[in-house]
Amino acid sequence: MSDPLVHPPIPMLDLKAEYALFEPALSNALHDVLQSTQFILGPQVQALEREVARFCGVEHGVALANGTDAIHLALRALAIGPGHEVIVPSFTFIGSAEPVSYTGATPVFVDVEPDTFNLDVAAVERAITPRTRALVAVHLFGQCADLDRLQALCARRGVALVEDCAQSIGADWGGKRCGSVGAAGCLSFYPSKNLGAYGDGGMVVTRDARLAEEMRVLRNHGSRERYHHHVIGFNCRLDEMQAAILRVKLAHLDRLNALRRDKAQGYTRRLEGVGVVPPHAHGRGLHVYHQYTVKSVRRDAIKAALDAAKIGSMIYYPIPLHRQEVYQSLCKGLRLPHAETVAAQVLSLPMFPMLTDAQMDRVCEVVARAA
Ligand SMILES: Cc1ncc(COP(=O)(O)O)c(C=O)c1O
Repeated sequence: MSDPLVHPPIPMLDLKAEYALFEPALSNALHDVLQSTQFILGPQVQALEREVARFCGVEHGVALANGTDAIHLALRALAIGPGHEVIVPSFTFIGSAEPVSYTGATPVFVDVEPDTFNLDVAAVERAITPRTRALVAVHLFGQCADLDRLQALCARRGVALVEDCAQSIGADWGGKRCGSVGAAGCLSFYPSKNLGAYGDGGMVVTRDARLAEEMRVLRNHGSRERYHHHVIGFNCRLDEMQAAILRVKLAHLDRLNALRRDKAQGYTRRLEGVGVVPPHAHGRGLHVYHQYTVKSVRRDAIKAALDAAKIGSMIYYPIPLHRQEVYQSLCKGLRLPHAETVAAQVLSLPMFPMLTDAQMDRVCEVVARAA
């Protein structure tokens, strides 16, 4: 048992440290919204849409209630529905795949690269059939999938490229920000994300004005004009308070992401020779380290040691999607070896912009003893 006076607990994510940094600006922003009494689809949401779209290098942003809705509405606006297939990596959060099922289309799970954990482009190509209409390209843990090859493949085969940027806002591929390459880039503002709200939130960014307009209608009960309903829509709007909070944090996001990169370098340096595999940065663009995820065959022992030392760690993700109970009717017998192996070996260590050197020293000391 570690002595909490000598070794204070280390959280997986320290949102309190971030709150302390932005407290006065956040309080002012919330106060302004409260005074305005405009809570839904007001000036904060409009301004956030403009600012996030600009940040991502596209013209349009459609703010939504969460990242799952972002993928859902993007697929709907792309006319994905029953009889269609949508390719999704198996090693990701289920929120990448659920929206495919919401549309009535079928998710088709493919394997990932064992080093970057992102889509294996050859596997995507093999999975394309005449029914394939879209690909959900997840940029996992903050690093872009191979956007050059995926974009070229999608263009050649007439498949819509939907980028799942839930974990990667600010990351780029060859200078192009994620979300700006595909037909739509889907963001999550879940509190733990690199740009996190104080509740749920999400957005689709796109260069396509028609797609943006379609999603604006879908998010607001299928209505362009109040009480005139053109299609069956949804209620999945972002609220003004979340938008105001996000605007405060967005202004600092590039610096916060740079701090995450510093921490990642610090970890990798400390873990040299320790016997765990550090995350592979492909060097084709900026990584924003939503997670710092190592691999080890001794993963469970390392996690137990960290738990005992009161150090946060998480297994993202212990079960690949093709092995989830909910997908057994679709995937029975499907083997995706890389997704299965990485799910058994990955461990994400504490990662947040205000992580200190002392905290990293301590994490790595415990990892080294158990590895
Ligand atoms: C890769 C990925 N896709 C989709 C989602 C869904 O986002 P949300 O939780 O905001 O619905 C998340 C986050 O939780 C995610 O990490």
